[in-house]
Amino acid sequence: MTVLLRNDSGEKLRTRALAGSCRHLLRLCGQEGSELSVVFTNDPAIQALNGQYRQRDKATNVLSFPQQEGEPDNGLMLGDIVISVDTAAREAREQGQSFHTRLQKLLIHGLVHLLGMDHERSAAEADLMRRREEELYQQLMKEGRLMPHLAINVDHIATLRQARGIDEPDPVLAAGICELAGACGIVAHLREDRRHMQDRDIRLLRQTVKTKLNMEMGAAPEIIAIALDIHPDMVTLVPEKRQELTTEGGLDVAGQHKKISRVIKDMHQENIPVSLFIDPDQNQVQAALEAGADFVEIHTGRYCDAENEDERNREFDLVAEAALFAYNQGLRVNAGHGLNYQTTARIAALDSIEELSIGHAVMARAIITGLTEAVREMAAIIRQAAL
Ligand code: PXP
Repeated sequence: MTVLLRNDSGEKLRTRALAGSCRHLLRLCGQEGSELSVVFTNDPAIQALNGQYRQRDKATNVLSFPQQEGEPDNGLMLGDIVISVDTAAREAREQGQSFHTRLQKLLIHGLVHLLGMDHERSAAEADLMRRREEELYQQLMKEGRLMPHLAINVDHIATLRQARGIDEPDPVLAAGICELAGACGIVAHLREDRRHMQDRDIRLLRQTVKTKLNMEMGAAPEIIAIALDIHPDMVTLVPEKRQELTTEGGLDVAGQHKKISRVIKDMHQENIPVSLFIDPDQNQVQAALEAGADFVEIHTGRYCDAENEDERNREFDLVAEAALFAYNQGLRVNAGHGLNYQTTARIAALDSIEELSIGHAVMARAIITGLTEAVREMAAIIRQAAL
């Protein structure tokens, strides 16, 4: 099977992943011996092709040029698919999909055309074609994508305990309940001021968490020493200010390169992967890469706090672009802060994101519905969005 994929669009695309999707789709369609050509281009170029070959002088999302009539034999050249990334980006925004997902859906549409299906001849054929596309997309997702998972931040269980200065509720017990309800990881922030998590909590969590313990922390020497001692599954470095109610902004990685890369080196010596919590900004992603980080966690706070839909869409685009940029640079990508039962699905649908770190919204709901139910509901939202 040969996939010839060319990117003439001038945009940065995940071409390796898209070529992989094409090969996967050919296999799913029983065309593993066939050749396929895919070109990503822009609106003016696709408009010219649409005018020349279909007498329609306007841009479109995808064009297919089959080499063979009807349903082709396996082992031959199937034809060419041309996709406009301009139209794809527009449609992705309108339909609330990630850009990469939109491109995959257009690839499927183009391929199904090459295999002889059509949506313009009759309503029945259009329905058949739509169903085949959906089926292929589901199969592709099931077998090929990153499934984002839910990591629960249990800090606020400790906040409630500290409000009384007694020993309950216990964040360690809560972490176990979250895991039983479907959380794939536990996050705990040991702050220098110990306003919620205490040293005892983080040490017990290390012993009891069965999934993955992500220790959130500032770069203070005392906290670094605790992390190196207890050895969490990973650490997430965050900026820490005494006066803030919660972590406010992302790290300025570029401005603190020396300090951050030293912490990363220390953690790596103990085989502890490091994530940097950053604003959705490509310069910070680049700085994280240069500092040697394994992951970035993209700050979703401004997306969640947006006051109107336009602002939310703008902030979402920044998160999506930063996440994709980081993923394309080879970083692993998490996201979090402020996510709730309304704002999470859209972020979970981004296929560059591996883990969502969520605390306050789940704890707030847990007070009303119980922790198990609150975690289950959030895990279901993420699972559903990833399909
Ligand atoms: N990620 C980071 C780096 C954080 O500091 C926090 C808050 O502790 C979260 C995620 C979770 O945010 P929230 O509690 O708003 O879900």
